[in-house]
Amino acid sequence: MLQEGSIIQNQRIQNYYRFQSMIYDSTRWSFLFGRNLILDRIAKETSPQKILEIGCGTGYNLKNLSKKFPNSKILGLDVSADMIQIAQKKNKNSSNIQLIESPYGTKKINFEGEQPDVILFSYMLTMVNPDFSSMILQAYEDLKPGGYIAVVDFYNSKHSWFRNHMSNHHVRMESHLHPILERKFEVVNSDIFNAYFGVWEYFTFLGKKK
Ligand SMILES: C[S@@+](CC[C@H](N)C(=O)[O-])C[C@H]1O[C@@H](n2cnc3c(N)ncnc32)[C@H](O)[C@@H]1O
Repeated sequence: MLQEGSIIQNQRIQNYYRFQSMIYDSTRWSFLFGRNLILDRIAKETSPQKILEIGCGTGYNLKNLSKKFPNSKILGLDVSADMIQIAQKKNKNSSNIQLIESPYGTKKINFEGEQPDVILFSYMLTMVNPDFSSMILQAYEDLKPGGYIAVVDFYNSKHSWFRNHMSNHHVRMESHLHPILERKFEVVNSDIFNAYFGVWEYFTFLGKKK
């Protein structure tokens, strides 16, 4: 059962992506860095059979996951119907990709009863406020034992004007995700990178379910 705050938050995100979905792919390549790197990090560590991307958006990662892991089953879930529609068009020829329109945590998500080996959050968790912790805990529950959580997202910025700008786009940049990720998961690798000579930082995190 979703709390009232989460329902309002989900509506905000759905409204935001009503327009943003139309310009998403033509703009986000210029600032959502590290998305290919996190897929490389997954491939170096494991050969997953079942991959779940939470907040799959327009399906950028789903397409690349499908190329990298052609024999895996891939599930993309997103709360925005507008984003899912684009992901559907983009991946219509990939038989190993399935899409679900839903907020994460409201229904049981699995692969015909089997748990995912990898759960990917790509530029999603910094948009889930204040519920990011419960989302990470949910992913911990949903992963199979020994499974991996893979995260790429904004980390922080020393410039308050930039943090405020991102906050207007529903993104919180306060290096707030690491404490809970590191507490729940065994760290496989964890890196922080500069974007545009230090205007902001982004990170990749690969963790194993303890
Ligand atoms: C910045 S986009 C990232 C999309 C994609 N992962 C990528 O890397 O291009 C964030 C996505 O998370 C989705 N999202 C936000 N909150 C969600 C929730 N509670 N459950 C499922 N999806 C959610 C949004 O609708 C949006 O498509």
